[in-house]
Amino acid sequence: MLLYGASGHARVVKDCVSTSGGVVTDIFDDNPDLIKLDQIPVVGYYKPEHKPSELLIISIGDNLIRKKIVSKVKHSFGKAIHSASVVSPSSTIGEGTVVMPGAIVNAGSSVGNHCILNSNSIVEHDCTLGDFIHLSSNVTLCAEVRIDEGTHIGAGSTVIPGKHIGKWCVIGAGAVIIQDIPDYSMVVGVPGKIIRTLVRK
Ligand SMILES: CC(C)(COP(=O)(O)OP(=O)(O)OC[C@H]1O[C@@H](n2cnc3c(N)ncnc32)[C@H](O)[C@@H]1OP(=O)(O)O)[C@@H](O)C(=O)NCCC(=O)NCCS
Repeated sequence: MLLYGASGHARVVKDCVSTSGGVVTDIFDDNPDLIKLDQIPVVGYYKPEHKPSELLIISIGDNLIRKKIVSKVKHSFGKAIHSASVVSPSSTIGEGTVVMPGAIVNAGSSVGNHCILNSNSIVEHDCTLGDFIHLSSNVTLCAEVRIDEGTHIGAGSTVIPGKHIGKWCVIGAGAVIIQDIPDYSMVVGVPGKIIRTLVRK
């Protein structure tokens, strides 16, 4: 497996790959000063001709940056599911997605491409997540929650059953979402209130 992005986040992605029996061989990164990450060679800018038959995961935490990089990458994408996570056989996990230790994806849920399900995040049954979503540590999505592309849910937040959060929203740490949230909203607090409308290019 190849990674793109040699940050601290990449070290967790590497653990997810290795506990599930894979090996990260090389890491691309746009910073030419980086040489190694935990003994794994950092090989500089992305090159489509570098080990083209290996799968690749974009190991960058920012949802919009992951989306931009996907459009220029020629490799096929892998996924990384930590051996200490639980993914129901009746749920689906998209390509490029990383499921970290302690995360749970319960029955009938679908998780899109290039998402991050951070440590101990819970996706209850029959949830639907679009692409490029990040659930931070200890997020709880109750049943039948729907979240659209690019949304970031801050650490420890809860979304009650059946609610819909639109695309490219930011939900602050510790929020409790009890109503539907429109696209591009920043929401904080308990219960969650919209404090800003975000602009996305
Ligand atoms: C929501 C968030 C993105 C806002 O960041 P920001 O744009 O820099 O906003 P500010 O710090 O200027 O805060 C704006 C207001 O919201 C309040 N606020 C910010 N985050 C809050 C939170 N999580 N809960 C409650 N209120 C919050 C601030 O107190 C401030 O209130 P004020 O205007 O009355 O003073 C950020 O605070 C946050 O919670 N990020 C989540 C980080 C996280 O979970 N990362 C996990 C990585 S795995």
